[in-house]
Amino acid sequence: MFKRTHTCGDLTLKQVGEDVSLNGWVSTSRDHGGLIFVDIRDLYGVTQLTFNEETYPEEFESAKRLSMEDVISVKGTVEARQENAVNKDLMTGEIEVKVTEIVVLNEAKPMPFMINDRDSANEETRLTYRYLELRTEEMQKNMLLRHRTYQTVRNYLASQNFVEFETPILMRATPEGARDFLVPSRLHKGRFYALPQSPQQYKQILMVAGYDRYFQIVKCFRDEDFRADRQPEFTQIDVEMSFIDEEDIREVVEKLVCAVFEDVLDLSLELPFPVISYQETMETYGTDSPDIRFGLPLVDFIGFAEDSDFKALQSVETAKAIVVSNAEGYSRKVIDDLNAFVKEFSSQEKKTPLGGLAWMKCNDGDLSGGVSKFFSEELRQKIMESLGMGEGDLLLVAGGERETILTTMGALRLEIANRDGLASDDDFKPLWVRDYPLFGKDEETGKWTFLHHPFTSPALEDMDKFDFDPGSAGSRAYDLVINGWEIAGGSIRNHDPAVQLKIFELLGISEKEAKDKFGFLLEGLTYGAPPHGGIAFGFDRFVMILAGAKQIRDVIAFPKTTSALNLMDGSPSEVPKEQLKELGIEIKKKN
Ligand code: AMO
Repeated sequence: MFKRTHTCGDLTLKQVGEDVSLNGWVSTSRDHGGLIFVDIRDLYGVTQLTFNEETYPEEFESAKRLSMEDVISVKGTVEARQENAVNKDLMTGEIEVKVTEIVVLNEAKPMPFMINDRDSANEETRLTYRYLELRTEEMQKNMLLRHRTYQTVRNYLASQNFVEFETPILMRATPEGARDFLVPSRLHKGRFYALPQSPQQYKQILMVAGYDRYFQIVKCFRDEDFRADRQPEFTQIDVEMSFIDEEDIREVVEKLVCAVFEDVLDLSLELPFPVISYQETMETYGTDSPDIRFGLPLVDFIGFAEDSDFKALQSVETAKAIVVSNAEGYSRKVIDDLNAFVKEFSSQEKKTPLGGLAWMKCNDGDLSGGVSKFFSEELRQKIMESLGMGEGDLLLVAGGERETILTTMGALRLEIANRDGLASDDDFKPLWVRDYPLFGKDEETGKWTFLHHPFTSPALEDMDKFDFDPGSAGSRAYDLVINGWEIAGGSIRNHDPAVQLKIFELLGISEKEAKDKFGFLLEGLTYGAPPHGGIAFGFDRFVMILAGAKQIRDVIAFPKTTSALNLMDGSPSEVPKEQLKELGIEIKKKN
């Protein structure tokens, strides 16, 4: 091997005439008779090599035998390209290296897919050969962006006097919302560690211990249903602070997010980020992670519906409308498609799917078409005026059970934005959602359950009543949302053990059970716990947004599939019987 003098992204006209050595992979090869052009690639770029049959016949013969992705080492002279061969898109596009010596360091088998074209294979193949996919330009870009994000986060938080910690990966199983991954103990047969769903309790303990500004970039493990934005193991930027309130957390987080956007994307975000209540975001966007890059708010329509003769909307719990401005492109066919979308969406999760979508269009100063005949002229004028409708605008309305209407119309809002290209990929609109309810009812058991996690403090104004009126109690939880993705979530915690015990009681966890499961934290709170709170970012989701990727798998080096398999290493795998025996485990039945 010739030790490289430059990387494949370094050479420009400045080095013309110099003798250089390059190492890398064969990216493309073109045979032009007595001249072969080979592109050599490494992490830093691509350089064009030329092999001339007349002047270097032996090297030319070697070049003829090269295959895609062979690893080579070459020596040669930097030459300026002819003017018509200059490639302005490449850093090295003005030069080429005339090869005088070549060593093939390793030959590659035929590729299962084209490294230059990530879409030339399905995701299963790409995940099986992840090391090849990681060679693609898109993945390299994502991995380097992830790296820069880690560095900025560390530097920023350290510069603000946050102390980086590591907390245990083998810990006690504690309920935190999802199912645990368990690890059997060999030394203590029949006992298990759990992998942390998050370091929540440890970071609170660190507050008790007096380290009042903690952070960690940490792996978390949750055995739940996986989607495009979820993985069984994922990474958090975990933060906790003492002697603070919500505003302090928001300030630190906003500055951190700004530092990342500036360092990684060279973009400035406007400060402070807007704050919206849970109630308001549900009413206006039908979701607690709204995309506010575009308008299309859900507007109340129940008053108009009640005054109309339209039976289907007269006695519903709620009715919401969306006004689409300048809806010239909304033909009957498009409205039918939206109608089908609404029916299908509402039937996926809900017991009572929506019957459909009603519509009216603003033409010649009046509402016409669709259900307009059920609305008096006076009512039609009132609707247009109060919803600010103008010529060519389209009104879409649905009525029914509140939750179904909100979530379905929220989804319709996104569908319309998608259809009309209303959200730009280069636009980033963060916002805070606050004032979440403390509890919700578990649909299956009918019992109270926590909405965030059981360590979240009730809202200060609900401190005296959350135990006898749990349904109306607010919490001190908050989420950070960017472009419709929940990027981070956190809360102010219960530092008073009596409040914490009361919450466990409401969740149906007895004092004995609470002491058994959360004993160390409860005990810790009794030895001088400062008021504290914090937040955790979904690091992968954050990087996904920065990278403009559509799924978190694209920003994780070795992700799992949606069915939690690692196709490259074949995990989860069976293990030898002896290994199980040592752990005191016997498999009775495989599914
Ligand atoms: P929470 O459960 O909201 O809070 O998680 C924080 C953030 O982590 C991301 N996230 C995930 N990312 C990928 N795959 C998953 N399976 C997954 N689950 C969650 C989300 C989410 O906003 N201990 C608390 C934080 C706190 O209160 O300080 C916690 O873990 O972006």
